[in-house]
Amino acid sequence: MTVYGSFPGSRPRRLRTTPAMRRMVAETRLNPADLILPAFVREGVSEPVPIAAMPGVVQHSLDTLRKAAVEAREAGVSGIMLFGVPEDAKKDAVGTAGTDPGGILQVAVRAVKEEVGDELVVMSDLCLDEYTDHGHCGVLDADGRVDNDATLERYAEMAQVQADAGVHVVGPSGMMDGQVGVIRDALDTIGREDVAILAYTAKYSSAFYGPFREAVASSLTGDRKTYQQDPANLRESLRELAFDLGEGADMVMVKPAGPYLDVLAKVAESVDVPVAAYQISGEYAMVEAAAEKGWIERDKAILETLTGIRRAGAQMILTYWATEAAQKLGRA
Ligand code: PBG
Repeated sequence: MTVYGSFPGSRPRRLRTTPAMRRMVAETRLNPADLILPAFVREGVSEPVPIAAMPGVVQHSLDTLRKAAVEAREAGVSGIMLFGVPEDAKKDAVGTAGTDPGGILQVAVRAVKEEVGDELVVMSDLCLDEYTDHGHCGVLDADGRVDNDATLERYAEMAQVQADAGVHVVGPSGMMDGQVGVIRDALDTIGREDVAILAYTAKYSSAFYGPFREAVASSLTGDRKTYQQDPANLRESLRELAFDLGEGADMVMVKPAGPYLDVLAKVAESVDVPVAAYQISGEYAMVEAAAEKGWIERDKAILETLTGIRRAGAQMILTYWATEAAQKLGRA
């Protein structure tokens, strides 16, 4: 036998020999408790409505939302993040349905709380885009621009109404300057110091939100580039992070997850609060579409994406696969 050069002195392959060995030395573990299920609930439907661009995800009726919440809890998922889809006729320029105590999101929160109580962490999307007829995350000024401070007043009211409905956590996703501070004040003012804020700290203006626009029947034309971050920027996220923590964020989030793992890693190493990542609609759709074509192995791809997000530093992951993934992982 001819020996070319010397044999390796280190052999990392020794620790990859068997499934048990690989399991033992795994640096990242995924547990059902790491997962949070985002869920859509549509007003005025008695049957769930499929979302074409997100195969397997639906706009729930109140009834199927209750069931989905119970199923998530039974699988060991930690929380549920609710998005309301109002009837089209209820959309207006200021998103009135978002602050109506009888609005779909508030009704959904009550229904889920009735079903699962405190056994799931119940969270609400705190944003106006689902309720405005122009589809923007805020109210517009006379020139049609998103008016930051006028929007903050709407968010303050939304936070109070959502707290009244019974959420444990509000998730402001509109990327207005100062939103966390204003929402904290609004909650404290009504004696709801107990309601936590999951701040969308680094939320990028992403093409991967595409399927979500169908999911919430968005009325948006144009884009959100004047309020969501430019995908080119990383330092800017650390600036947003400092503001959110200073304003009282209890937890922070990076969104999307997959294309922004560097941002996630940086944020995670910079803070001492829990860090979440949102694996968004387009990330979900890409895997589902490729799997449907037989181009990738669906279940393995799903777990790999979730493991990667955990490895990068997210303690919690919002994912549309939460219940299914939790069921596969088994309750830890
Ligand atoms: C805004 C909001 C969006 C998402 C969550 N909250 C859409 C947007 O910013 O355009 C996207 C979530 C997803 O794509 O899964 N309320």
